[in-house]
Amino acid sequence: MLKPNQKSESSKKNQVERMFDSISFEYDLLNGIMTFNNHKRWKKNILNIAKKLKPKNALDIATGTADIAINLGSIPDCTVTGVDISEKMLNVGREKITKMKLSESVSLETGDAENLKYENDYFDLITIGFGVRNFQDLKKGLTESLRILKPEGSLIILETSVPENRIIKFLYSIFTRTYIPIMASIFSKDRSAYNYLLDSAEAFPCGEAFGKILKSVGFNKVEINPKFFGSSTIYIATK
Ligand SMILES: C[S@@+](CC[C@H](N)C(=O)[O-])C[C@H]1O[C@@H](n2cnc3c(N)ncnc32)[C@H](O)[C@@H]1O
Repeated sequence: MLKPNQKSESSKKNQVERMFDSISFEYDLLNGIMTFNNHKRWKKNILNIAKKLKPKNALDIATGTADIAINLGSIPDCTVTGVDISEKMLNVGREKITKMKLSESVSLETGDAENLKYENDYFDLITIGFGVRNFQDLKKGLTESLRILKPEGSLIILETSVPENRIIKFLYSIFTRTYIPIMASIFSKDRSAYNYLLDSAEAFPCGEAFGKILKSVGFNKVEINPKFFGSSTIYIATK
C-alpha cells in the first residue's frame, strides 16, 4: 500500500499516478463531500489573491481535474497551463475546460512537478492545490517551481494542515477518521486511496514548519493563511 513517506522514487510516483488515475472519475464528487465544498471557497481565495497579482502567464501544478487552472482562466489576458502526472485526472479537467469554452486560455499537459520542461524565470504565477504532499521529493518539487518562476513571481500553495488548537485537533481527527472512510466506502471503489490521503495529510509538515521549508529552498517572503480552523492552509511564497 502507498505510504505518505515512501522514499523509493519510481514506486511512489507510479503509485500516486495510478491512485489518482483510479479515483479520477469520482474525485470531484468526493472532494466536495469531504470538505463540505469548502475546497471551492479556498480555490476562490487563491483566485482572489492571484487577480491582485495580475499574472499573464500562470502554471497550476498538480492541477488534477483543473479547478484552479479553470478559475485562473477568468483573469483577463492570462494564459494558464495545468500540469499533472495523472492522465485520467487531466482528462476529466479537459472535459470541463471544453464544456466551459475555456480552451483558448487554459490548456493541460502531462508533467512531473519535480522535473518540468519549462525555461528558467518563465511564469509570473504558480499555484499548487493539494499537490505538494504527494510529491516524492518535496524540496525538489519546490525548487523546480522556484526555478521556473520569474523574479518577484508568486507561488500560491493550498494544502491540508492539522489544526493547532488541541481540542479542535482532537475533534478534527475523530471526524476525519470516521466520516471520510465512511464516505469513501460508499462512493469510491478504492478505499485505500483515501487512507493514503488521510495518512499523508497527518504526516505532512504544515504552518510555520512548511513555511521554513519554502524559505530553505530559496523563497524570499512567505505568508501563511490558515483556513477553516487550520484544517487547510494557503501559503503565498515570493521569489
Ligand atoms: C489531491 S489532487 C489535487 C488536484 C487539484 N489540484 C485540486 O486542488 O483539486 C493531487 C494531484 O497531484 C498530482 N500529482 C502528484 N504528484 C505529482 C507530481 N510529481 N507532479 C505532478 N502532479 C502530481 C496527482 O496526480 C493529483 O492529480
